[in-house]
Amino acid sequence: MTFAKSTSHHSSVQEVTAVSDWKPDTWKNFPALQQATYPDEDALAAALVELQELPPLVTSWEILALREQIAEAQAGKRFLLQGGDCAENFNECSSSLITNRLKVLLQMSLALVHGLQMPVVRIGRFAGQYAKPRSSDVETRDGVTLPSYRGDLVNSVEFTEQARVPDPRRLIQAHSISALTMNFVRSLVDGGFADVHHTEYWDLSWLEHSPLADEFHKLTDSLSQSLRFMETITGRDVGSLRRVDFYTSHEALHLHYEQAQTRQVPRQWGWFNLGTHFPWIGMRTAALDGAHVEYFRGIRNPLGIKVGPGMTRDWLAGLLEVLNPQREAGRIVLIHRMGESKIEEHLPGLIHAVQETGSPVLWISDPMHGNTESTPDGTKTRRFSKIMHEMELAFDIHRANNSRLGGVHLELTGENVTECTGGARDLSDHDLKRAYKSTVDPRLNYEQSLEMAMQIVRKHSQPS
Ligand code: PEP
Ligand code: CO
Repeated sequence: MTFAKSTSHHSSVQEVTAVSDWKPDTWKNFPALQQATYPDEDALAAALVELQELPPLVTSWEILALREQIAEAQAGKRFLLQGGDCAENFNECSSSLITNRLKVLLQMSLALVHGLQMPVVRIGRFAGQYAKPRSSDVETRDGVTLPSYRGDLVNSVEFTEQARVPDPRRLIQAHSISALTMNFVRSLVDGGFADVHHTEYWDLSWLEHSPLADEFHKLTDSLSQSLRFMETITGRDVGSLRRVDFYTSHEALHLHYEQAQTRQVPRQWGWFNLGTHFPWIGMRTAALDGAHVEYFRGIRNPLGIKVGPGMTRDWLAGLLEVLNPQREAGRIVLIHRMGESKIEEHLPGLIHAVQETGSPVLWISDPMHGNTESTPDGTKTRRFSKIMHEMELAFDIHRANNSRLGGVHLELTGENVTECTGGARDLSDHDLKRAYKSTVDPRLNYEQSLEMAMQIVRKHSQPS
């Protein structure tokens, strides 16, 4: 993973002062939703002391470089691509899964760079995406009630008493596995990925099944031509020309874990969460007087905020005031996740509310979380057509309201899973049984992800 070298001058990120009355643990004075209840508090305290001493996963200069990129995206000069698993699992920290996930994200970003004619901010939902919010603290099966699975950071998914007890050693394990993931990602993007730049090596067999095959072939052909042209004029393999920037993100849900990674660094003021570049606040924990907002207020990382249909104009304006009182560029990304049937009703008012504050934000669309449904046999799925429809509406609504959709947030994998239906191969509910691997939300597979990137290019280039 490589990053812009110099952070000594940040043209668009102005100097501001640190927040007062804040420490990494002041969140404890506020109601904290979605936290694990550990039976052994001493064991939790011991794990947190250990975690605090471990080296960080990212650095402050990487975080500030990302803020700079987000500021550029806010100015309309970049598009943001954020994607990865709904939840990572400890037992899926493998070479091939990491490679394939990174590959699909890089291929998508190449298609976007070429199709949108602008640089892309690349952010993975990985190396720390181990905690999940749940609608209930407990789960009951066949008359047995156990604590809900809250992600590998907290407990284990098996439905046994032992597996579901929150185990603080998992906090250390999550940090280690995140570090292993980061280490491999950094090596891969540092030069091992030349073949991603050659569309001949992409798996495009699905294209033949798409009604838009001709249009998509034109896109990949023109991408190949540009890449070949670059190689010809520079005389070098395009994969080695420029090392790519890649950043990490996760939902900062488990506040003890986040606090332990919140550090001060030499020659910088304030505090950084050094467990990830880009933490986000989930929909269920964005209360203005809640512990999560208190925690996020004091860190200098750029922040994502999920914005669902329940968000009100005053609430959103309040969040911007608390989380970005000095209206710094590059600080806030609003990730709306309305559902295709609700976005037209809810988004315009929120766009106006933000415009009235005058606070700079980057709006991106998460077309996944508002479109989750269950098949008649109870399998969680999402329909490609609805995901795409929400994304298309998002582009239109921003355009019509003097705003801009500046990115997307997707749950995806580089594997050929069958979790979302539809797409070029038109997967049916019946296909879901074949390769359904997610323990939480259904993800776009390799082909559906590439198709989504091409659809974004197509939509973006259409006149409104
Ligand atoms: C998620 O991104 O996996 C998630 C839980 O999203 P939301 O908070 O938007 O429901
Ligand atoms: Co999810």
